[in-house]
Order: sequence, then structure tokens, then C-alpha cells
Amino acid sequence: MEIEILSAQSSKSIGVLNNLTPTTNIRELKKKVQGLKKSLYPDRQALRLEPRGKILKDDESLQILGLKNGSKLYVKDLGPQIGWKTVFLAEYAGPLFVYLWMYRRPWLFYGDVGAAVPVHYVVHMAAGCWTLHYAKRLLETLFVHRFSHATMPIFNLFKNCSYYWLFTLYVAYHVNHPLYTAPGRVQAYGSLAAFLLCELGNLSIHVALRNLRPPGTTVRKIPVATSNPLTALFDLVSCPNYTYEFGSWLSFAIMTQCLPAGLFALAGMYQMSVWALGKHRAYKKDFPKYPRSRKAIVPFVL
Ligand SMILES: NC(=O)c1ccc[n+]([C@@H]2O[C@H](COP(=O)([O-])OP(=O)(O)OC[C@H]3O[C@@H](n4cnc5c(N)ncnc54)[C@H](OP(=O)(O)O)[C@@H]3O)[C@@H](O)[C@H]2O)c1
Repeated sequence: MEIEILSAQSSKSIGVLNNLTPTTNIRELKKKVQGLKKSLYPDRQALRLEPRGKILKDDESLQILGLKNGSKLYVKDLGPQIGWKTVFLAEYAGPLFVYLWMYRRPWLFYGDVGAAVPVHYVVHMAAGCWTLHYAKRLLETLFVHRFSHATMPIFNLFKNCSYYWLFTLYVAYHVNHPLYTAPGRVQAYGSLAAFLLCELGNLSIHVALRNLRPPGTTVRKIPVATSNPLTALFDLVSCPNYTYEFGSWLSFAIMTQCLPAGLFALAGMYQMSVWALGKHRAYKKDFPKYPRSRKAIVPFVL
């Protein structure tokens, strides 16, 4: 059986693949497409039935897709790729180093005054929270998450790192500034407790999502609450890990009483809301029995 491969961008023919069988799957086909054009390694390809159609999954076979002798497939070049985990490790390691560097009040930013003014205990607490959060994210990337993608476009590395590294510099500069004014004890310790609770909640959701996916697969299931009470938020929203993440940064902003930290919380909330709404829509589309009462990220509201 023969299939013609065309460029999704220009609709020009790239070549014809032959000796295919109905059980040949998309993963195998991608290796063969690389035989037609060497630079198009499998992770760089998105195969589609139409130039702008849905991306075909690696496990789908020609038979399941209804492809016959002489059918056409379109390949989109996704551009140079980089390891999915590599991007996360780079984007999370930056905030750790940048924040801890600013915590030492470098002369470059604060001059001689930096060393002369005593450091408030809230500044120490903030550095501890920041470190805990990003150390947790690094460890989760390495040991908890079971990602379904191996790579992403290399541009994401620069985009994601700029966002995290620069925002860290902005927040850390203000919290560690010698002129920084801290809030009272009740506000500081109350929001520290809320921060820690949200971090624990976020971790609990990540563990629950991990256990939803058998090792080595890309299976996606309807997430449900487990015996861990912090996962009960799954009864109300599709992406409780984002809800907890926002809770952490809101608590951090209140604990430090720092406007840049508040802006960081809002920027994260905006991005996570966009993603959560997309994931929520996908759940409802993919699972006809998906609980109707759930919202995307904010219980009863959004
Ligand atoms: N502050 C910010 O601006 C910000 C923004 C985004 C994220 N974050 C933090 O980073 C964390 C991870 O973000 P993310 O966007 O990667 O979270 P996510 O999409 O919820 O995914 C977390 C992990 O769970 C898997 N997963 C998700 N839904 C699943 C399902 N129904 N069945 C099986 N596995 C499922 C994902 O696999 P796939 O690889 O298949 O998706 C991924 O490995 C967030 O929880 C948050 O703490 C922070």
C-alpha cells in the first residue's frame, strides 16, 4: 500500500511511502517520512489528514484512520525540538539561583547599603518559600510527572526562561531591598501557613495525576479525588493544581506585602486560567460522562 506525503504548509509533495500495511502506525510512518527528508526527525513532525486538521496520535494505525492505497497525509514541520524535561529544568533552576543571589543583596544591585541594613525575618521566610517552591518543581519534573510529550519547539526554552527568570529578578529585587517594609506578624505567619498548605495541595494533585497514568503510557483519564483530602478539589475544578499554584503565589504576595509578587501571582493566574479552560473543554469533549458541575480553575466561578 502507498501513501503520498505532502507538506502541510505548502501542500507540495515530499514523496511517496510504499510497502505499508494497514497495521502500520503513525510512529512507524514518521520514521519513514524522515527517510524522505532527513531533517524531519519524528519529534519534529505533526502528521494530519488535512493541511490544518487534527494532529494524528502515534498509536493510530492506517486502518483505524481509514487510509487506503493512494491516500494522502500532510506533515507539518514543527521546527527544531528540545527535550520537554530539559525546558522545565532550565526554567525552574533559574528562579532558584536568581532569587538566592538577590537574597545575598549583591553590591551590583544595592551598593554598600545592602550589607549595612539588617535583614527582616519575613525576607528570610520569603527566600525559604521561594526555594521550597522551585526545588519542589525541579524534583517533581524529575521524579513525579509522567509527561506525554518528549520534546517541544526550542523557542519555548527562551520564552519560558525569560518569563520565569525576569519575573524572579523583579520580585526578588523588591523583597530583598534594604528599604523593604514587612507586614505584621499575624499577616506574615497566617499567609506562610496558607502558602505551605497550597504547596502540599499542589504536590498532592501532581501525585494523583501521576497515578492516573500507567508508566510508559500517555493515557489520559478523568481525574478524581483520592483518599488524600487535599485532592477533594477535583470535585469542584478540572485543574486543582493550578488553583493551588495561584493560592501559593497569592499567599506569598500577602506574606511579603509586595506589589511585584502580586503581579507575578496575577500573571500566573491569567496563563493558568487560559490553559485550564482549554483542558476543561478537552475533558468535556473527550469524556461524555465528565462531571458537569466542575469548573476549570476557580470553584463555582471559572
Ligand atoms: N506559576 C505559573 O505561571 C505556572 C504556570 C503553569 C504551571 N505551573 C506549575 O507547574 C505545574 C505543572 O504544570 P502543567 O501545565 O504541566 O500541569 P498539567 O498539565 O496539569 O500536568 C501535570 C502532569 O500531569 C499529567 N496529566 C494531566 N492531566 C492528566 C490526566 N487527565 N491523566 C493523566 N495524566 C495527566 C500531565 O501530562 P501531559 O504531559 O500529558 O500534559 C503532566 O505530566 C502546575 O501544576 C503548576 O504547579 C505554574
